[in-house]
Amino acid sequence: MSVSPLVPGVYIVGAGPGDPDLLTLKGHRLLQQADVILYADSLVPESLLAVARPAAQKIPTGDKTLEVILALMVAEVAAGRAVVRLHSGDPSLYGAIHEQIQGLEAAGIPVEVVPGIGAYQVAAARLKVELTVPELVQTVILTRASGRTQVPEAEALASLATHRASLCLYLSAHHVDQAQIDLLQHYPADTPVAVCFRLGWPDERIWQVPLAEMAALTHQERLTRTTLYLISPALEATAGRSRLYHPTHAHLFRPHA
Ligand SMILES: C[S@@+](CC[C@H](N)C(=O)[O-])C[C@H]1O[C@@H](n2cnc3c(N)ncnc32)[C@H](O)[C@@H]1O
Repeated sequence: MSVSPLVPGVYIVGAGPGDPDLLTLKGHRLLQQADVILYADSLVPESLLAVARPAAQKIPTGDKTLEVILALMVAEVAAGRAVVRLHSGDPSLYGAIHEQIQGLEAAGIPVEVVPGIGAYQVAAARLKVELTVPELVQTVILTRASGRTQVPEAEALASLATHRASLCLYLSAHHVDQAQIDLLQHYPADTPVAVCFRLGWPDERIWQVPLAEMAALTHQERLTRTTLYLISPALEATAGRSRLYHPTHAHLFRPHA
């Protein structure tokens, strides 16, 4: 089947966690049609690029600054080409797309964003858990430990921990000792934690430990990057039932309880 050419512009595409089967159909189609593909090589496997046209230019961006990446994209679109900028997971989370969109729009370049499956969604699927179990936990927090990128004081991990929500901790393996101390201020020490390494990659590993052992496990397994911590009472939920499918609960599509 032939694919029609894309309108020149930049398409920021969420690649999902790494498994090519977890790319959206729209992302797949854009990759097939792109003239140029810029990809964050540390988190996006080259296997995802297999569907690209042989003539498409594939440029890894791990060694490039924002300025270089922006100049490249602007020049390619000005020359009439369609650029796919491939980011891991969902681009809205720690994707550094804000400054790219600002720079592209300032240069008058059309931008479209295509969502992807984020690491926390893959973690929940692999663990076969609902992050929002009724009467146990109804809130999900996506956050990170403070590091070279400072987290605003109002979002300090210890204060987020007061909610005892399902908490997905990104970019924090290097700061896991302090993260554990902060979380233990409010979560019980036996709160289950799933430590998820390279989800969706062939060497994926998932461990489940009590919160009090989160840091020790991280050091023991020498995890320094591509690790997501999922801290949640839902990981060991035994009861809890949503009202949605309950026989006594009537709603628009099932009016007679
Ligand atoms: C720069 S952020 C990108 C997040 C991405 N936009 C997302 O939605 O998943 C990188 C961090 O996301 C998490 N992460 C991304 N991909 C992952 C994967 N395949 N397995 C485990 N954690 C992952 C890790 O915490 C990693 O340090």
